[in-house]
Amino acid sequence: MARSKVTVVGAGNVGATTAHWIASRELADVVLVDVVEGLPQGKALDLLEASPVYKFDVKITGANSYEATADSDVVVITAGVPRKKDPVTGKFPSRDELVKTNQKIVGDVTRQVVKYSPNSILIIVSNPLDAMCHVALQESGFPSNRVIGQAGALDTARYKTFIAQELGVSVKDVHGIVLGGHGDTMVPLPRHTSVAGIPVRELMAEDKLQAIIQRTRNGGGEIVSLIGVSAWYAPAAGSAEMVEAIIRDQKRVIPSAVLLKGEYGYNDLYIGVPAVLGATGVEKVIEMDLNDEEKGMLGISAKAVQDVVGILGY
Ligand code: NAI
Ligand code: 2OP
Repeated sequence: MARSKVTVVGAGNVGATTAHWIASRELADVVLVDVVEGLPQGKALDLLEASPVYKFDVKITGANSYEATADSDVVVITAGVPRKKDPVTGKFPSRDELVKTNQKIVGDVTRQVVKYSPNSILIIVSNPLDAMCHVALQESGFPSNRVIGQAGALDTARYKTFIAQELGVSVKDVHGIVLGGHGDTMVPLPRHTSVAGIPVRELMAEDKLQAIIQRTRNGGGEIVSLIGVSAWYAPAAGSAEMVEAIIRDQKRVIPSAVLLKGEYGYNDLYIGVPAVLGATGVEKVIEMDLNDEEKGMLGISAKAVQDVVGILGY
């Protein structure tokens, strides 16, 4: 059986690490693409040279154009610019400027990708995440089950990490979910969080739980304040988890940014919800029975996403 093929666009921190997880788990052959000459080729070669040590048997290629990406099954888009100070003016770009810059990058990348891989499934990672999913949907012309955003996998992983740390239990036994947009309005759901089926509120005081919820919402910022740039190991792991669910048709339930069409009361808006991921992409959105408080928090998050989507001008 032919191996699956995954393209990762953007060979920076998140893209290269996503390629690393995919290759080392032998999920697929990988093509790494970036605009910087030599960067994707060099990182692909370096990763390939690790394969005899850890014994993963996949092709890994780097390229500055898209011919080598032809007929990819899944394409992960991490291309974009981060929010950073202009070295000349010393000013940060406004949110609108950053949205417009990444809209152009993600739009250009998407058009190239679909030209060579018209049947692929797109996993968007570039920020602002939920808005960039709208860009990829618009520019690809794909049905929305084939344009999915990675955020919930990461946000949920952070949430579970903090709970396991606080309780001194294995991360393997922590279950939980984070909904909403990828930003500080995201919605961790303590009512649906458990350790081996035991409700988390039976194990942890409310103030500790609320501190973990707040830390999860600020999870991206916490890493930036430590390193000076945004995270890559956990974001890449979340992206590879989604790739695996699709390539192996696992029907995993992974919180993902999905275009809602009436679910949870929202229409034509990308937002993080539990989604069944399999060979055709989003195979189902699971509608949870949220209480009024949870619905209210999701509403605030949806409004924040809508405000950014409004900047796109579609
Ligand atoms: P990075 O700066 O390390 O890498 C970005 C790469 O994109 C660079 O190598 C750059 O040359 C490349 N690039 C720029 N324009 C391109 C184009 N037109 N075509 C191909 N490649 C292009 O940034 P990093 O840390 O890898 O983050 C990438 C994106 O992912 C950012 O937008 C970041 O905010 C976002 N992100 C999203 C997360 C999520 O959970 N959704 C988590 C972490 C980061
Ligand atoms: C993160 O959550 C910045 O989206 C990035 O780490």
